[in-house]
Amino acid sequence: MQAQTHLLCVAPMMDRTDRHLRYLLRLIAPHARLYTEMITAKALLHGDAERLLRFDGAEHPVALQLGGSEPDELAEAARLGVAAGYDEINLNVGCPSDRVRAGCFGAALMLERDRVADCVRAMRTAVRVPVTVKTRLGVDHHDSYEFVRDFVGTVAAAGCDTFIVHARKAWLSGLSPKENREIPPLDYPRVHRLKREFPESTIVINGGFVTLEDSVAQLAHVDGVMLGRAAYQDSWLLARIDAHVFGGDPVAEPDVLAAFERYVAGELARGTPLRSMTRHLLGMRCGRAGGRRWRRYLSELGDGAPGLERLRSLVRTLDGGAGLSAA
Ligand SMILES: Cc1cc2nc3c(=O)[nH]c(=O)nc-3n(C[C@H](O)[C@H](O)[C@H](O)COP(=O)(O)O)c2cc1C
Repeated sequence: MQAQTHLLCVAPMMDRTDRHLRYLLRLIAPHARLYTEMITAKALLHGDAERLLRFDGAEHPVALQLGGSEPDELAEAARLGVAAGYDEINLNVGCPSDRVRAGCFGAALMLERDRVADCVRAMRTAVRVPVTVKTRLGVDHHDSYEFVRDFVGTVAAAGCDTFIVHARKAWLSGLSPKENREIPPLDYPRVHRLKREFPESTIVINGGFVTLEDSVAQLAHVDGVMLGRAAYQDSWLLARIDAHVFGGDPVAEPDVLAAFERYVAGELARGTPLRSMTRHLLGMRCGRAGGRRWRRYLSELGDGAPGLERLRSLVRTLDGGAGLSAA
């Protein structure tokens, strides 16, 4: 079944949410909305777009996150994304990494809300799928409620009806990207206030959710919750939230592993290195008996058909029937 909403989303994460992880996450969380890693518009226009955009049909609903600040380039990149089959185009206005700052996009764009509005307008004209924005509460000393309210107001007027808000501001210099995900304090009430002030907009809250209870409690205030690190580090948390939000039981671990093993075998036959897929299994037994052994075996699998055979026997040695709800 394809979720039509943003109730539960998995965050875009560079070097994490590639197509292999997204395939695995889809097995774990059948209804969650998935996001790609950020891909710059320039990379799509001048690079190997087919490779960058490749995804499996099972991933739907899946959003392509773009980085950029030139309306024409973003419009063209969005067009490529929709032609490839993506369900949503998301603009990154929240990432404070050096690379992003140098290109004057990501979080720095919060300072240029009219430009963001132009970008959204151009993308909206180019494609029919929703164009959404992922942003922060502010940047540097531009951290008042009024600042983010005016940003959302301006961009909403340009046709963006969904905002994913990482509930902290970003410092554009002085902090590493990792520190920028930890040091500026979280302010959930401010995101709730945005929802009250923009009731017509879909507001998705992001930042710091690590339990089922805290994640689903947000749904009383906003339209959706997005998990990043916790979804990667503890995949079963995501399974439990998906089941809680959408109903049913969490998917069974043996079923997930068997299906992913089939996917890995198919990809391996097409030349995809084993490790680029199995690295995403490391979080699957987080905090559970045998977790350390699981991670050690995974890192020692090797590659090719022998590696796949070792993966198969590793999966067979697990206490398979335990099920995810016990995690
Ligand atoms: C390794 C890593 C890579 C990230 N890459 C992106 C990215 O490409 N685009 C983006 O908008 N945010 C990116 N983020 C930020 C996440 O999307 C999310 O906003 C942040 O991690 C806070 O959510 P969390 O506390 O649930 O992890 C990244 C975060 C991590 C940990």
